[in-house]
Amino acid sequence: MTTRPRLTVLGTGYLGTTHAICMAELGYDVLGVDCDAGKISKLDGGEVPFYEPGLAELLTRTLASGRLRFTTSAREAAEFGEVHFLCVGTPQKVGSLAADTSYLQSIVTELAPYLDRSALVVGKSTVPVGTAQWVENTLHAMAPAGQDITLVWNPEFLREGFAVNDTLRPDRLVYGIKGETTPALLDAAYQGIYDLAAAEQRELPVIVTDFATAELAKSAANAFLATKISFINAMAELCEASGADVVQLARALGHDARIGPKFLRAGIGFGGGCLPKDVRALRARAEELGVAFGLLDEVDATNARRRTSAVTLALSLLDKPSEAKVAILGVTFKPGTDDVRDSPALDIATHLVDHCAQVSIYDPVGMDNARSALPKANYTLSPLDAVQDADLVLALTEWDEISSIDPELLAPAVKQKRVIDGRNCLDARRWRNVGWQYHGMGRH
Ligand code: UDX
Repeated sequence: MTTRPRLTVLGTGYLGTTHAICMAELGYDVLGVDCDAGKISKLDGGEVPFYEPGLAELLTRTLASGRLRFTTSAREAAEFGEVHFLCVGTPQKVGSLAADTSYLQSIVTELAPYLDRSALVVGKSTVPVGTAQWVENTLHAMAPAGQDITLVWNPEFLREGFAVNDTLRPDRLVYGIKGETTPALLDAAYQGIYDLAAAEQRELPVIVTDFATAELAKSAANAFLATKISFINAMAELCEASGADVVQLARALGHDARIGPKFLRAGIGFGGGCLPKDVRALRARAEELGVAFGLLDEVDATNARRRTSAVTLALSLLDKPSEAKVAILGVTFKPGTDDVRDSPALDIATHLVDHCAQVSIYDPVGMDNARSALPKANYTLSPLDAVQDADLVLALTEWDEISSIDPELLAPAVKQKRVIDGRNCLDARRWRNVGWQYHGMGRH
């Protein structure tokens, strides 16, 4: 067996691009594959098609090392690779809560006919439980190498904004396998990650399980995180109704080691390309399997309500919304990314555009994506430009640049010193001290 097997990474979205680059950084020869020729030529030219801290530098370095290449050809992938990572997206299906697995189906059925010698296929995409079994059946039926193709299901837990670190230093590895032993090729493919953990004296738990448990490990993790956020947001509603403060409440809860302090930040809720669609996909799959999981409906509904109540609050603060100018600071679904998919901030901006005279938006990196999703808003080059003559300011993504903004600096520019802090990221006292009317989420 090769010490450093040749790897292919199929799908060059967030997950695949990061995985391909990081594996090349660890010393593997990697071929990235995507049917989108535009994306492939960008990557080949050294351009990461999205914003992710640290990734562009690593791409430049790994391309220059000659260890990383890109192609659109599934045949080339099959000829090159000993281990093939499936990293395509599984977005929400149009008109349904379920996940759309068509990209995964395409890549598997395109690759399989060229797999004419033994190889390992590693599924990393987030999929509805049961999909891995379909992938294995298809590989065995369509690949000339038949049963010599081994499948492992190995979900990926990386976060946007921390994608490089999460890939190089995962907090756990989950291997869904058939049979008793982890394939030696899988260990060889991850040796670089094991070695890094050993060199840094970090524990790297490896959970070896069956296909279904591995698939569910990912869906359950995201559903649990979403549930935690919706729980604290439901508590924020209760705090608003009772005069309590959800920020202090979260601190009181978080010190209980059984609960923990993370993912208890109340605000306008969760967004992005993963949590919302994964909650819905798990709900849909549970229903297909005849399992009641209404809890997830509530998680989703509570999350949606945070957005509508932020819009209602904004409109209630404006004397005449149709004549008002509103400024939005932060539009990505969280800091550290240019991603506006299912972004609560963008959603709120979209509603305000329909009701207000003008909506000006500033975001440190998300402007281009926001502009294509919401061309009707006005985009500015600085927070100060955005708040010019504003009747209301909304801080909706907790970028450092936004959390640390000086309220005194903004004050002379606005028409009304009113701010909604959608992420409880501003220092309420500091803003109030210089005359702002401050509205947090679940706090007074
Ligand atoms: C998530 C998972 O964390 C990751 O493990 C998985 O692989 C992909 O999905 P990501 O989408 O990058 O990662 O974002 P995450 O950091 O989980 O945040 C998701 C959303 O929850 C953001 O909109 C964030 O603002 C929101 N959030 C997070 C809260 O509203 N409150 C919190 O306390 C934490």
